[in-house]
Amino acid sequence: MKEIVLKVLKEAGIKATENELEIPPSDELGDFAFPCFKLAKKEERNSQEIAKEIEGKIKLPPIISQVEAKAGYVNFFFNYERLTQQVLERILKEKERYGRSNIGKRKFAVIDYSSPNPAHPIHVGSARTTFIGESLARILTHSGYKVKRICYINDLGKQVAILLWGYLKFARGKKPSKKPDYWLLDIYVKASQAIRENPSLEREIEELLRRCEYGDRKILKILKKIVNWCIRGFKKTYKTLGIKFDEYPFESSFNEISKKYVDELLKCGHAFRTSDNAIVADLKKFNLPSTILLRYDGTSLYLTRDIAASIYKFKKYRPRLNIYVVGEEQKLHFQQQFKILELLGFEDFVKNSFHVSYGLVTLPTGKISSRLGRVILIDDVFGEAILRVKEKYTKYEKIARAVGIGAVIYAILKIDPNKKVSFSWDEILALEGDTGPYLQYAYTRCASILRKAEKRAIKFKVEKLLKEEKKLVKALAMFPEIVKRATEDLKPNYVCNYAYDLATTFATFYQFCPVLKAETNELKNFRLALVKATRITLGNCLWLMNIKSLERM
Ligand code: ARG
Repeated sequence: MKEIVLKVLKEAGIKATENELEIPPSDELGDFAFPCFKLAKKEERNSQEIAKEIEGKIKLPPIISQVEAKAGYVNFFFNYERLTQQVLERILKEKERYGRSNIGKRKFAVIDYSSPNPAHPIHVGSARTTFIGESLARILTHSGYKVKRICYINDLGKQVAILLWGYLKFARGKKPSKKPDYWLLDIYVKASQAIRENPSLEREIEELLRRCEYGDRKILKILKKIVNWCIRGFKKTYKTLGIKFDEYPFESSFNEISKKYVDELLKCGHAFRTSDNAIVADLKKFNLPSTILLRYDGTSLYLTRDIAASIYKFKKYRPRLNIYVVGEEQKLHFQQQFKILELLGFEDFVKNSFHVSYGLVTLPTGKISSRLGRVILIDDVFGEAILRVKEKYTKYEKIARAVGIGAVIYAILKIDPNKKVSFSWDEILALEGDTGPYLQYAYTRCASILRKAEKRAIKFKVEKLLKEEKKLVKALAMFPEIVKRATEDLKPNYVCNYAYDLATTFATFYQFCPVLKAETNELKNFRLALVKATRITLGNCLWLMNIKSLERM
């Protein structure tokens, strides 16, 4: 709808953006308003005068019934009979394709997300990147991109070295006897404990890590075996979430090549060798702290290898969007990485690269036991949510899983990534309010109404609309624009907030406008079409968020 208004304004010689359009506080002021105050200031004129002038220049398309200059605003009134006809026809025809666009046509979007450290099962610290990343992947797919999901495996980190040390010490030659990441967790916990009791072991761990970084074949082979077990465990968790990665690239595989890029940096004078033989990227002149790329012994670091991994993705996909969904604590890491990529001549690639960062998640201190110091596992969070849903609402396992997992996803996804998340179980599992279960419930309500209606193609005619019907049509019509904005800003929370808005608008409609008991058959058919369109649109929202739609709850 906003696009239509912008187009009309443009034809009248006014260039405006979506964000400038306001939604008036009351219906009498129309559906959208363009404020003229900025222009008034610029031209040193009266805002109402400008509004009047714009009003005079506007040529109305049939879908807009009226414009009106009032108090410095140009107000736009839609022709609801027409709008409704168009919107409903479109939704009922496009169904799960409703909201799709060609923004990313024939272009790749590569998303690095989740990427848990392969030392133990996925912990809750990775929950947010997992949910945001998957939702972004779906949103970008809806916008026409060819999406590649990348789970980067940091197999050369401290935690993995601890696990490796533990494996060699306590389980050498053995194989997992249960879900492999949990089997490894036991070893990891044992190893961490041993180190806590005897801090001098730290040196052994460091040494082991260096050997991996040096490329000690024998050790790397064992490491690879362990890490692959871990990934097998991750995949089970991803399966419960309906997530499938295209690639699991290993950090260690970029070790050798990364040194070549360091050489290049040395040659072009953006890196230097220190007196103790380390190599440092010189970033001071770009207002960033300089940073080590190779240690005195020639081993590379996380950043060095990440640069090589980026270049690998660039060469393979030439992506239009290269996205990292990683916590805000790595902000500097990505600033440095992008700067160095620029220095290596990948400016265009860097322009298409984005660090989607996010803040901390604090979980309710409930029954979830942390099996690993203060670390809580994501499977356990889901387990607790599912259990509570069973206690509260249902005995059906399938429904409980969909509702429990959906509630956790929604609670985290709906918050702007820049803000912290904290929640309580009662809050996120409630059937009323801004929750996952509420949205799923709204969907099942549509489904149940449609089940009760006779099964035949709905032919509808649009007559004069009630206020609640208009509101619902307007909400339905906004969906494609929301997807577009979420795509441009890389923000899945827009879709969440929209879905909640749509669900509450539907609830009000349903309260005031009887559907199955509508006064006439024609009205009934029309309202059934509205219900159908709501079900489709809400279903699309849930899909974009990676939350399951349920026919019954
Ligand atoms: N494994 C890292 C962590 O858990 C995230 C890796 C993100 N991806 C990357 N290419 N740096 O913090």
